[in-house]
Order: sequence, then C-alpha cells, then structure tokens
Amino acid sequence: MSEPLRLGVAGLGTVGVGVVKIIQQKANLLAERSGRPIEITAVSARSRDKDRGVPLDAYGWEDDPAALARRDDIDVFVELVGGDDGPAKQAIEAALAAGKDVVTANKALLAHHGQRLAELAEDAGHVIRFEAAVAGGIPVIKALTEGLAGNDVERVLGVMNGTCNYILTRMENAGLSYEDAFAEADGLGYLEADPTLDVGGIDAGHKLALLAAIAFGTQPDFDAVELEGIGSITIEDIRQAADMGYRIKLLGVAQLTGRGLEQRMSPCLVPAISPLGQLEGGTNMVVLEGDHAGQIVLRGAGAGQGPTASAVMSDVIDIARGTRLSTFGQPARGLRKARPARAAVPAPYYLRMELVDKPGALAKIAAQLGEAGISIDRMRQYGHEATTAPVLIVTHRTTRAALDEAIRGFETTGVLASTPVAIRIEEV
Ligand code: HSE
Repeated sequence: MSEPLRLGVAGLGTVGVGVVKIIQQKANLLAERSGRPIEITAVSARSRDKDRGVPLDAYGWEDDPAALARRDDIDVFVELVGGDDGPAKQAIEAALAAGKDVVTANKALLAHHGQRLAELAEDAGHVIRFEAAVAGGIPVIKALTEGLAGNDVERVLGVMNGTCNYILTRMENAGLSYEDAFAEADGLGYLEADPTLDVGGIDAGHKLALLAAIAFGTQPDFDAVELEGIGSITIEDIRQAADMGYRIKLLGVAQLTGRGLEQRMSPCLVPAISPLGQLEGGTNMVVLEGDHAGQIVLRGAGAGQGPTASAVMSDVIDIARGTRLSTFGQPARGLRKARPARAAVPAPYYLRMELVDKPGALAKIAAQLGEAGISIDRMRQYGHEATTAPVLIVTHRTTRAALDEAIRGFETTGVLASTPVAIRIEEV
C-alpha cells in the first residue's frame, strides 16, 4: 500500500471530533477505499486540556492553527475553526504557502474570500475542497461539480438552513409564535452563536453563493445575494399560506437570467405538495436543475457531527485517491464576474392585507393591480373581524417592480387597514 495521507486537523469542536472518530473507527475501510492509509499527524484547538471524548495523545499538538498548517509532517490541512476572517483564513493561507492541500467546512470564509483563495491554491497546484460547507452531509458539491458536469445548470434552489426550517415547521405544526419557536430552537442548541447568521439568512446565503459559483462558472459573490430573513414571518402568514395550498420556506434560489445572475435567499411560498413543501424540521433539501439531467432533489441532514464529518471525509478521501478538482469546478482564473440581477425572473406572488369594510374596497385593490399590469389568479376574503377583513390574493406571474408599484397604489385607496405582506411563490 502507498504512503499514508497525513492530516493536520484544526478545530476540535463538534465536527473536528467527528472527523477524529471516523478516522479512528474506520481506518481499514478508509485505507481500502483510498488505496492508502489516512492518518492524523497533529491537531490544534483552543484548549489542550478539555476532554473531548476521543483519545488525542497519539497526535502532535499546536496552539496556533497556522503553525499546524506549516508542519512538514502533514499533507492536508483540515480547517474546522470557522469564521470568515482571522485565524481560519490565516491558517489556510499558511497551508497553501507551505504546499498543502486544504479541506474546509467554512462557508463564510469561502463565500467572502473563495475567489482569491482558489486562485492562490490553483496557481500553486494545490486543491481546496469544501463539501462540508454546504448542506452538511448532503453531497451537493460533488453532485454539481462532478455529477452534473455535462449539463448547463438552469437553476439551483433549496432549503439550506435547518434551524430556519425547524422554526418555520414548528410554527406551522405546533401553532407557535416566531418568538416561541426561536426559543425552542435555542434550547435545543440549534442556533449559531450569532443567531442572525441563521434567521437572517446569512448562513444559507453563504451556501447559495458557493453553489452558484459552481453551477454557473462565476466568481463567488456573497455581496450580490439578496438576503431576507424569517424574523417577520407570522403565524397568520403561515396559516393563510397553508389555506391557499402553500408552505413558507427560507428558500435560496440562484439562476442566470438575461439580465445577470440572480441570487436570492428569502422567505418564499412553495406548493405544500412539492418535495420542498414537505420538508420538515431541521433537514436540508437542495434541488438542482440541469438541461439534460432534469431535476435532481437531494435531501438530508444539513448539520450535526456525523453528517458534517462525513462530508469532510469525502474530500479527504478524494485527495487520498489522487482526485484533483478545481475549487469551483473549473479553473478559478476562468470564472466570470457575474452582473447581479435583483428579482429579475417574474413569479406569482402571494399578497395578504387587511381591508376596511367599505363598499368597493376589494374593487379598489383589484383596480390597482390591473393598473400595474398584474392579473389575479386566486383571491379569498375571510369574515370581518369588527370592521376589517383579511384578504389573500395570489397573482399570476409578475415582476417585483410591478408588484411594488401596485402596493404603492394600494396606499392611495384609503381601504388598507394593515401594511400588505407580499411573498414570492417559487414554482418548483
Ligand atoms: N446553522 C446551520 C443550520 C448549520 O441551521 O443549518 C451550519 O451551517
């Protein structure tokens, strides 16, 4: 058998310990599949004394992840420290400068600095792999980079933050308010240290930016992702969307349009009977659409020790086997800089508002939609509570600009009793 592949593992949190466990428990299997043993030479973490439930005595120790990255006795630097700057970035740069390949789970770092790091790696003949950065245990990077390499990708969409999906499904299934579902997710340890990463759509936006780069051969550009979190979704939105046959998801959508690359991470309605509509709890789902392969649906655990460590190991095994892929599926210096297009693709929209009980109130709203060139697909008015009544409207396909024009028009009618809520309906 060939020489062992020697790893330096930086970060011994949940995922790092998961990687150590797989390497310790499956040494034979990994060696058989890779054609060479996979070993850990040294590790690095914040505290040396902490009991992590796995034996670490056989490994060297470095306090500084960059020192680990530079060691002569490692071939691959496994970065599981996290953070879009600081020690993780410095250590990856040190690893590349010292001639190592890199495996990372760090979506934030790659979403912000992926282009430069990929160029740095590829110029020097090294690889950066990041299966664990997107949708945990779901092998979506491999599916896009390798499985769909012969396709023009038409659209990538999905639920890529399990915490948000947990909160939204608990609101719907248990009738909880957003605040109560958030507190429950917090109690279960689902939330990131900075919860806005989850509920603000930032974590999922990082993942979408990485998928879009591979799918469309463009430079990763997180700043161009249109972001909207789930904090303003109410139980009424969820109930009334359900009444019209939809469920609300924090949905990421990336597609190339004639006007540029559209990347959105925002609450959307999807048909309740669609695979995305049926996604429950803290699970992830990514849908890939290729011109030849058609629609591929991948579903699985988007976080957690086993799933994320499994994804890290798939990259390590690739390197052990001698598979050398460009970071984003094609040489980084050939990735195009895409023009960002905001909400360019027309879609049906769901509108919810309270109207006052006056003759012709509904007609005034319908007239504003007509003037903005928007056609109504379905409409429902509920019974009056005192002097106002909730009204739901599903439009035919329209642009966000036309919808905003209509909503500005609603405000001139004198019949609105609440600020209208507009949510895009994603056709899946
Ligand atoms: N916090 C993320 C989630 C997992 O809830 O899906 C890490 O990206």
